[in-house]
Amino acid sequence: MNANPDRNLAVRAFWEQEPCGTNMRVTGEAEPLSREWFETVERNRYLQEPMIHAAAQFTRHRGKRLLEIGVGAGTDHLQWARAGCECHGVDLTDAAIETTRARLALYGFTSSLQRLDAETLPFDDSSFDLVWSWGVIHHAEHPERIVAEIRRVLAPGGEFRGMFYKRRSLAVLKEWIKHALLAGRPFRSFADVLAHHFESPGTKAYTMREMRAMFAAWREVTIEAAMTPYDYQHLPAFLAGWLPDALGSFIVVRALK
Ligand SMILES: C[S@@+](CC[C@H](N)C(=O)[O-])C[C@H]1O[C@@H](n2cnc3c(N)ncnc32)[C@H](O)[C@@H]1O
Repeated sequence: MNANPDRNLAVRAFWEQEPCGTNMRVTGEAEPLSREWFETVERNRYLQEPMIHAAAQFTRHRGKRLLEIGVGAGTDHLQWARAGCECHGVDLTDAAIETTRARLALYGFTSSLQRLDAETLPFDDSSFDLVWSWGVIHHAEHPERIVAEIRRVLAPGGEFRGMFYKRRSLAVLKEWIKHALLAGRPFRSFADVLAHHFESPGTKAYTMREMRAMFAAWREVTIEAAMTPYDYQHLPAFLAGWLPDALGSFIVVRALK
C-alpha cells in the first residue's frame, strides 16, 4: 500500500491532464487519437530522444514477455508490439491506458493494459523476460519499491531497461537558476526545485552513485549518462555537439536479475 495516497493522487492528477508528448505544441491541429496525431507524437518523440532506440533495441526481443511500466502515450509500447513481444503495460492514469489501447488497436496490435500504481504490481514472481520503463519511476513516491517489484516479476536472467532523471545536469541547473537563484532563494537544493517545479509533484533525480546503489542487487548493471535536448536547448547551437554526456539529464540503465 502507498504510505501517502494524497501524493499519488496529485501525481496521477498531473498525468491525467494529457499523456506525455501529446501537447498541442507537438500535435498541432491533428485530431486526437487519429493516425496523423499518433504519427506526429512518434516523430517528435524519437527526434527529441533518439537514444531510446539504442537503449531499447526493440527488434532484439521478439517473443519475449514484456512489461512496460508507465506506457504514457504508448509510443514505445507500439514499438514493442511491432517487434513481436507479448505486451503487457501499466500506468497510473486512465489517460495513458486509453491512449495506448487506442494506439495499438489503430495499428492492429493488442496488449494487456492496466491502470495501477507500479509500487505494487499484481503479477506473479518471474512473470516477464523484459521490463521497460522510460522516464517514469522517478515520479513515484517510492521509486525503490518499483525497482524491487520489477526485480520480483522478472524471471531469473530477465532484463530491466529504462531511464531515470539525473540530478547534476544542465536541465536541472536551468530549473534551479529560474526557481532558486533568480527567485531570490539560492539556498534551495536541486532536489527541492525538482520536487516542486519539474513535471508532477515530487519528481526525483539521481546521481550516478545513487543509481548504482538502486541497482546494487542486480547483475551486469550498465549505468550511463545521456545528454538531451532538454539540457542544451536555449544554449548556442554550436555548443550542443561539444557538451559531455556527464552533464546530461538522463541516466540510462540496463540490468539483469
Ligand atoms: C514522463 S511520462 C513517461 C511516459 C512514457 N514512458 C514516455 O516515455 O513517454 C510518466 C508516466 O509515468 C506514469 N506514472 C507516474 N507514476 C507512476 C506510478 N507510480 N505507477 C505507474 N505509472 C506511473 C504517469 O502516469 C505517466 O504516464
